[in-house]
Amino acid sequence: MRAPFGVVVITGASSGLGASLARAYATPDATLGLIGRDRRRLQATASACETRGATVSTAIIDVTDASATASWLRGFDGQHPVDLLIANAGTSAGPDPDSPSEGAEIAARQIGVNLLGAINTVEPLLPALCARRHGRVAVVASIAAYRGLPYSPGYCASKAGLRAYAEALRPRLARHRVGVTVVCPGFFDSPMTDRFDGPTPFLLSGEDAARLVKRGIDLGRKRVAFPWPLVVGLQFCDIAPAFIGDAILRHFRFQIHAA
Ligand SMILES: NC(=O)c1ccc[n+]([C@@H]2O[C@H](COP(=O)([O-])OP(=O)(O)OC[C@H]3O[C@@H](n4cnc5c(N)ncnc54)[C@H](OP(=O)(O)O)[C@@H]3O)[C@@H](O)[C@H]2O)c1
Repeated sequence: MRAPFGVVVITGASSGLGASLARAYATPDATLGLIGRDRRRLQATASACETRGATVSTAIIDVTDASATASWLRGFDGQHPVDLLIANAGTSAGPDPDSPSEGAEIAARQIGVNLLGAINTVEPLLPALCARRHGRVAVVASIAAYRGLPYSPGYCASKAGLRAYAEALRPRLARHRVGVTVVCPGFFDSPMTDRFDGPTPFLLSGEDAARLVKRGIDLGRKRVAFPWPLVVGLQFCDIAPAFIGDAILRHFRFQIHAA
């Protein structure tokens, strides 16, 4: 079967889920645009994709740099009209569970990368995708988008914002025949999870997570959220009276160490 997406752009392709997705989309008829910051790791992903027969362009870009991100994306799209754009780059923090808050600077950094960085990635290509009346945008949020967790408020805010942004885009873009997939994964193995010091229920391997995400995107799903017990549990915490959700989540104590 021919892959549904021939030209795929992935941010955060130098590590974890983004690298696994890049390899999964790397087929001989695929053209990939891979964005990351770490040149050596991004090149390792690119080489693995080329070995699978894909044509690969890489770009070292910080997605918080809106103009650099837009300019590269528009240039790439001009040469290779993009079928699928995956805004996956992300960062996490949750420095000290005993401190009253994580601090404005750390919260702002996560919102800058996870929310504004994803918007910087998605917005520049929307006019072209809509004009072609074809394509799909996927954003990687998190199950943390469903209910704020006490020990990583900035991360949860960034992912809740990203989820709301993409859910808002979906009906708007549907008129132009452009699809939107909101991805809300639970825990999976990755360098980000290696820095997570706390319980990781229903932890998946990075490859299994990438397989679920890719299958959902390829099927045109509007939402891809897993594992269901965590999704349902957090949705329950959101719709239950606040004191119940607060009481449950207070016990989900963790710390996220700096990279
Ligand atoms: N791991 C989990 O359990 C989990 C669960 C739910 C959601 N997620 C989300 O899934 C996505 C992938 O996470 P992961 O676990 O694969 O993490 P990871 O291994 O730490 O990879 C994060 C990727 O994002 C890139 N990135 C970070 N900041 C960037 C910036 N400012 N500009 C450009 N690229 C940037 C990194 O690039 P460099 O390394 O080159 O800087 C790296 O490629 C993230 O959005 C994360 O929030 C993860």
